[in-house]
Amino acid sequence: MAKLLIDRDPKSPISEAYRTLRTNIQFSSVDKPIQTLVVTSSGATEGKSTTASNIAASFTQMGKSVVLVDADLRRPRLAKMFDLSNREGLSSVLYQKEDVFKQIRKVEGMHVLPSGPIPPNPAEMLSSDRMKNVVDSLKAAYDYVIIDSPPVSYVTDGAILSSICDGTLLVVAAGQTDQRMAIAAKEQLDKVSANILGVVLTKIPTKGRGYYKYHYSNLYSYKEYKK
Ligand SMILES: Nc1ncnc2c1ncn2[C@@H]1O[C@H](COP(=O)(O)OP(=O)(O)OP(=O)(O)O)[C@@H](O)[C@H]1O
Ligand SMILES: [Mg+2]
Repeated sequence: MAKLLIDRDPKSPISEAYRTLRTNIQFSSVDKPIQTLVVTSSGATEGKSTTASNIAASFTQMGKSVVLVDADLRRPRLAKMFDLSNREGLSSVLYQKEDVFKQIRKVEGMHVLPSGPIPPNPAEMLSSDRMKNVVDSLKAAYDYVIIDSPPVSYVTDGAILSSICDGTLLVVAAGQTDQRMAIAAKEQLDKVSANILGVVLTKIPTKGRGYYKYHYSNLYSYKEYKK
């Protein structure tokens, strides 16, 4: 069975919400199209990996070439999510100078770069010139590079990645994210001049039957927050 809801049930309102998110990302920047995108949040388990995966699948569904990168070198999840081996991946590319394209796996029409083994120095690895080169090579080869990352409030990894990518999405979980943490996360990202495209609100409790009982995601324009 397909791993992601957007593949499993494309007609559900949740899948529709991810497609809206995709459209908003596509049209979020007129002058400089967004090709490399970091998905981050202030704290843990707010929905970063789920959001990043479904956005990647959503772009894949519209015929774009997409690579989904697990740059959460602290609590990686994508290998597990897609039933892939995590013996090698991004960390092997950075550490052992493996060819990045050899580490990309094809699963359900998607291209996924797992994290590889957890290194002792994730922030150092992600801030290396080599990481920047990896992102540039992927950008040259794919229409979209979607990067999953750790929470920005605890570690600098998310901010580091944001500084080398075209855009950043900040995931905020309804009823879970602490307001002060969300503000702190935004400040962290501002410090590195991240291009925050918007806030994705996850885990919204909704009323009604069927899928409406569950939660869906939405992208709110960041312009409102910038004022
Ligand atoms: N939009 C959503 N609505 C409801 N639940 C969600 C949503 N997105 C993710 N979840 C659920 O929240 C939990 C955490 O999701 P996920 O692993 O994507 O978060 P994360 O931010 O990547 O976590 P981590 O900090 O561990 O990397 C999972 O159980 C997932 O199914
Ligand atoms: Mg995650």
